[in-house]
Amino acid sequence: MIVIKKVKELTSIVGEKKKAGLSIGLVPTMGYLHEGHLTLAKKAREENDVVIMSIFVNPLQFGPNEDFESYPRDFERDQKLAEEAGVDILFAPEPNEMYPKPSMIVMNVVERTDRLCGEKRPGHFDGVVTVVTKLFHLAQPNRAYFGLKDAQQVAVINGLVESLNFPLEVIGVETVREENGLAKSSRNVYLTPTERQLAPHIYQALKAGRALAEQGEKDAEKVINETIAHLNEHTGAEIDYVELLSFPELTPVQTIKGQVILATAVKYSNARLIDNIIFECE
Ligand code: PAF
Repeated sequence: MIVIKKVKELTSIVGEKKKAGLSIGLVPTMGYLHEGHLTLAKKAREENDVVIMSIFVNPLQFGPNEDFESYPRDFERDQKLAEEAGVDILFAPEPNEMYPKPSMIVMNVVERTDRLCGEKRPGHFDGVVTVVTKLFHLAQPNRAYFGLKDAQQVAVINGLVESLNFPLEVIGVETVREENGLAKSSRNVYLTPTERQLAPHIYQALKAGRALAEQGEKDAEKVINETIAHLNEHTGAEIDYVELLSFPELTPVQTIKGQVILATAVKYSNARLIDNIIFECE
């Protein structure tokens, strides 16, 4: 595995790979790798000739009161894990390499962002699509891999690719969970030992909501209320939101039909965790 910090070096090596007719799989990350990221890398390894992983904590997608400075980082460990997962090129630029001067173009996502995390984190997805666009141009992937734990991100990036005609396939990969159901996340390190015990109930709450829908309950509000009740009773967390929306359009539904997402964000003392279930109802 080679580690690249400079844009020019990446574009030069990508040019060579493209010329040789090799397919490229891109796994964009912000580092502090966990099994979720490694699953993306392994899938990319299976499906492409060359695997590029980026590690870049993107300042543009953090709000002024969010955890950009304290976002967990461990580059030594990440390098080792990426190599073991079969990554060929690890691209890890500094912020001034990605954003050498203020951009004269500003990206603004106008759909799929007025609910869920988009509503709570204004500007977040503008920052995500800006960096992902740059990464797509630099890495020129045939396929790009994203975890479905951030299902709204997958929906937005699908919209980006469709709207701007990027010649690549977006692959949304199933959420990787601990045995107790807790979705793997870099932010899980912020949980206290007690919160770690309680946090698996986030997924249990989503499953309780889905079970109600699968038993035939069509009223979205009732399913949401069931999920809220479970979260309140078992997680010890403050609920940020519980929403049931069509997927991938992310529009509110009153009557459950077709593919939907039941999603939540909750706040613990030092961590805001998100999770979701996507399911289909007749
Ligand atoms: O999901 C993430 O880690 C980030 O939002 C991404 C896609 C790497 C863009 O910075």
